[in-house]
Amino acid sequence: MTSEVNSEQAAWWNAAGQGWARAQDIVDLVLRPFQDLLVDAALERPRDRVLDVGCGTGAVTRAIADALDGACVGVDISETMISGAKQQGNVRFVVADAQVHTFEERFDLIVSRFGVMFFDDPVAAFRNLLRATTPGGELCFITWRTPDENPFMTTAVQAAAPLLPDAPAPDPNGPGPFSLADAGKTRKLFEQSGWSGIEISPVDRICTMPEKLLVPYLSNLGPIARALKEAEESERPRIIGASEVRSTRSCTATRCGSQVPFGRSPRQLHSDWRCHVSRLSRISPDQPRVSSSACTA
Ligand SMILES: C[S@@+](CC[C@H](N)C(=O)[O-])C[C@H]1O[C@@H](n2cnc3c(N)ncnc32)[C@H](O)[C@@H]1O
Repeated sequence: MTSEVNSEQAAWWNAAGQGWARAQDIVDLVLRPFQDLLVDAALERPRDRVLDVGCGTGAVTRAIADALDGACVGVDISETMISGAKQQGNVRFVVADAQVHTFEERFDLIVSRFGVMFFDDPVAAFRNLLRATTPGGELCFITWRTPDENPFMTTAVQAAAPLLPDAPAPDPNGPGPFSLADAGKTRKLFEQSGWSGIEISPVDRICTMPEKLLVPYLSNLGPIARALKEAEESERPRIIGASEVRSTRSCTATRCGSQVPFGRSPRQLHSDWRCHVSRLSRISPDQPRVSSSACTA
């Protein structure tokens, strides 16, 4: 049984999800360091059943299922995202609002890669996830730190801003990529939701992509994709040009990999992603919490 309260987010992610799903191979390449971090956390101890919240097209869900050789469920509010998720035997995907969905089973690990910052009532949502966790079970997820610490995210937004004069200003307290950036506030909402053993640690990763994938990445995701959708055909090269230049400046570039005959190997762009990893547990009276070294920055 499911219902949905985050209808604005559902509408947003059903529309934005088309570009996200188109660029998912690039996103998964760029975000691979965070997938590896969550797989390592999953492997710390035996797990029977894992839930991936805001799973998108499910790369992390499938990677954890493969690593554990166990059952995993991916939940996402966006039908578009889930329709792009490749099914496999030990993985099941559900379209549902994780804030209110009544999960039929209990999970001994809940993970998320950038999928838990979009709830309109985060306390209710994390309480609902606590209900879906077995006693002694854990939650481990990755969220962004502040916009200032993440220039790769913000330069594209700044480039798009003058091209989107009617776009509403983002609400720093509402659902959005940076809604859990403040570790102090986030800790309080975890406590209010009833979680124990709360650890919020900074985690920095360098994410890499071949330079030729930057334009497909920018034009399918976030504000640039929206600007392109709304722009006149003649305006598009200017939008792409501005965002490409600004984003490239926020990265470092190297040439590596195989040599191209009579030329230089293609450039790779490296961006610094400054995030938090949060570890929470549902303490069972007879089971002390296990150390979480794999998830510490
Ligand atoms: C930034 S994307 C991350 C997708 C995926 N975890 C990944 O790393 O590729 C955020 C995801 O959270 C999902 N989402 C947002 N609000 C949600 C909610 N209330 N319940 C379930 N999923 C939600 C979106 O549909 C979207 O797929």
